[in-house]
Amino acid sequence: MKIAIIGGGPAGLYAAILLKKQRPEAAITVYERNRADDTFGFGVVFSDATLDNFEKYDPPSYRRITQEFAYWDDIAVHFRDTVHRVGGNGFCGCSRRKLLLILQERARELGVRLQFETEIDDEARFADSDLIILADGINSRFRDKHIDHFEPEVDVRSNTFTWMGSTKPLDAFTFIFQETEWGPFIAHAYQYEAGRSTWIFETDPATFERAGLKGLNEKQSADRMAGIFGWFLGGHQLLTNRSMWRNFPMIRSKRWVRDNMVLIGDAKATAHFSIGSGTKLAMEDAIALAEAMERAPTVATALAQYEQGRREEVEKTQHAADVSLVWFEHVDRFWEFDPVQFAFGVMTRSKAITYDNLSLRAPDFVAEVDKAFARQVHAKGFDIDVDKPLAPMFQPMRLREMEIANRAVVSPMCMYSAKEGVPTDFHLVHYGSRAIGGAGLIFTEMTCVGRDARITPGCAGLWTDEQEAAWRRIVDFVHANSAAKFALQLGHAGRKGATKLMWDGMDRPLEEGGWDVISASPIPYFSDSQVPREMDRSAMNAVKEAFVAAAERGERCGFDMLELHCAHGYLLASFISPLTNKRADEYGGSLQNRLRFPLEVFEAMRAAWPAQKPMSVRISATDWAEGGVTGDDAVTIARAFAEAGVDLVDVSTGQTVRDAQPVYGRMFQTPFSDQVRNEARVATMCVGNITTADQVNTILAAGRADLVALGRPHLVDPAFTMKAAAWYGAGDVFCPPQYLPGKEQIFRNSVRDRQDFEDLKIKAKPKTRAELKAEATKPLAAE
Ligand SMILES: Cc1cc2nc3c(=O)[nH]c(=O)nc-3n(C[C@H](O)[C@H](O)[C@H](O)COP(=O)(O)OP(=O)(O)OC[C@H]3O[C@@H](n4cnc5c(N)ncnc54)[C@H](O)[C@@H]3O)c2cc1C
Ligand SMILES: Cc1cc2nc3c(=O)[nH]c(=O)nc-3n(C[C@H](O)[C@H](O)[C@H](O)COP(=O)(O)O)c2cc1C
Repeated sequence: MKIAIIGGGPAGLYAAILLKKQRPEAAITVYERNRADDTFGFGVVFSDATLDNFEKYDPPSYRRITQEFAYWDDIAVHFRDTVHRVGGNGFCGCSRRKLLLILQERARELGVRLQFETEIDDEARFADSDLIILADGINSRFRDKHIDHFEPEVDVRSNTFTWMGSTKPLDAFTFIFQETEWGPFIAHAYQYEAGRSTWIFETDPATFERAGLKGLNEKQSADRMAGIFGWFLGGHQLLTNRSMWRNFPMIRSKRWVRDNMVLIGDAKATAHFSIGSGTKLAMEDAIALAEAMERAPTVATALAQYEQGRREEVEKTQHAADVSLVWFEHVDRFWEFDPVQFAFGVMTRSKAITYDNLSLRAPDFVAEVDKAFARQVHAKGFDIDVDKPLAPMFQPMRLREMEIANRAVVSPMCMYSAKEGVPTDFHLVHYGSRAIGGAGLIFTEMTCVGRDARITPGCAGLWTDEQEAAWRRIVDFVHANSAAKFALQLGHAGRKGATKLMWDGMDRPLEEGGWDVISASPIPYFSDSQVPREMDRSAMNAVKEAFVAAAERGERCGFDMLELHCAHGYLLASFISPLTNKRADEYGGSLQNRLRFPLEVFEAMRAAWPAQKPMSVRISATDWAEGGVTGDDAVTIARAFAEAGVDLVDVSTGQTVRDAQPVYGRMFQTPFSDQVRNEARVATMCVGNITTADQVNTILAAGRADLVALGRPHLVDPAFTMKAAAWYGAGDVFCPPQYLPGKEQIFRNSVRDRQDFEDLKIKAKPKTRAELKAEATKPLAAE
């Protein structure tokens, strides 16, 4: 077999090594345009888990890498004259140059041909090769040559960065967030060998401009950075090596394989440097390719298997890198935070590290985070323990005069079980049990303001006396038997009305027994859905009056809070999104115009709703669709509602149009809550695939939301909050007297369970690299 590899970076060299080990008879050549020791950059960083992989696939190169590495365990965050250190991170840094020399040496040893100073510009010269590996890096000529086939998507990010080095020794992965007269600068720094550290400097475009960095040469840039970070560098110099200021290109390729050619490493996809995964991804691509080549009967099958098997892992890492880079791009959102909360945000930004996880390895740090959170709550007038505070989830909150005992919320969820809009015994048991389960606040399902405002025939409503009486019974039960506050969500289905029950076909039009539907514009949801009637002013007046009348009924029922549903493509949302609002009058066009009617409804309800009771609005903070509402729009929308008197923005997303492309994942809507809360400066509730109390605490402690709603988890577990309270030792959580023996038992057992869990986690912790490094210095056995 003949294999040509274009590019002698980590991806190309490691692929050569693994394939040669697997097929000693194969003729494998790596073509690299640079000289053997001619490499840009300073250090690269690997996590313990990545090193485990290297150990498994090629012990000799692994040993040499680990002999050369600098190991550290801590992450240090410097911000506003404070430093917070968090241990237990297990990383190693190594010089990129040495890494490449090790891989070259190992490849040569195995019989790989390395051809340096050979620029390849046409793959035709490899016509007799069975496999051509395109490992030609971020600016891959071959990916671009076959652009129509690989279909790369290149997203050039806004922040500017440069990669430098220093002689400054560091004992932790170090982030420095530095205020300057021009704006914030960030340094990401780590040591990679004795007396050498990598320094990546990053800033936003406006600060870059104001600081006059444009047009400076490498030396001048280094002097400017040394001026800014000199207090930390302590006389150590900054080193440059092609240290130009650049913008990071986030690259994703639709296809990775073309005939017998395959993209690996940065050529196929990039991951932002802030999670230090570029070289890891490149080398793990090589592993995945080699594995596929080992298993599959033909090259074609192997390449297909490589692409199919590897894509999800790469996309997951890219997603984590995306989330991380967005955090750094918007660091100004958190600039006013308490430094310990800021540091917690840095640590948890890409979702891999959580509150519980940090509690295990940095309990003192988490104790400080809890105290900072508690101090904020105390400052709002709550008489709580600030020295030994409860976890953020169990801290109270006040909206107007409504006090909520904890931050867990039952998200609004249609039960499709009402009879002519009248909630039934099912609803009494449903809401009653979730209230007893301990959540601080529970929401009703979308409760419709008129018969024709319903989504389905099973939707609950609040337009008749009978419905009012049925809701009052439920509210009374909740108030009499729990400490939960109860919010009424009012909505109008708009063009998604007259559709089937969820279990008969969500959003599908009713075949019989339907009713006429209305919307901002006459655009059907599905192509075979009813075409809605475009609302004229008299229809708007009628809808507004229906909302006000339902709000007044809600007050008579005794609800504590009122939410206006302006999300998920229903009537009011259809005004806000440009994808569903094509009106030419003053209710269409600009975002300000599109908000006019929803705000009018909100203001009319606000006037009718008691001043001491809070109101929220649920919005879709993005339509997940080209030309639709974006996170930036959501900030404007939230500000407009806040000015109209909203107390809380309930940040959901999507469900506006059929062809949306949501990016799901754990806590996938939380970034929008973060953006709205910290840019519009309004209280938010986040929701969406949040499934554990650990995630709830992580979100709250990082200041990404004020309340956390859980929908589906509450469908199967009404006592979600009670169980979490037992886990975190929040003994004050309300429990009706009938259930007290159960509460006592779970609290007692939780102490033991938690201890067992922590012991298990600590026992299961693998050997540290420092220990492995000691082993690596033992003489080599023949491999
Ligand atoms: C600022 C910055 C910081 C980073 N920090 C880290 C970090 O801390 N940790 C980490 O793991 N990663 C980091 N990375 C990422 C890392 O450098 C890359 O992700 C990694 O090197 C990708 O490996 P690769 O083999 O795919 O590509 P490359 O390392 O770019 O190798 C491609 C090779 O192909 C050669 N080549 C290109 N075209 C041709 C041609 N036509 N003919 C012959 N040869 C050719 C090039 O000369 C090059 O040697 C960082 C990147 C940047 C920009
Ligand atoms: C069965 C069901 C019914 C729902 N009904 C509503 C509703 O009436 N109003 C609303 O705003 N959201 C509704 N949602 C959305 C949820 O409130 C929540 O935003 C969504 O399920 C994501 O949260 P989760 O991942 O915790 O379930 C519903 C969700 C489910 C699963």
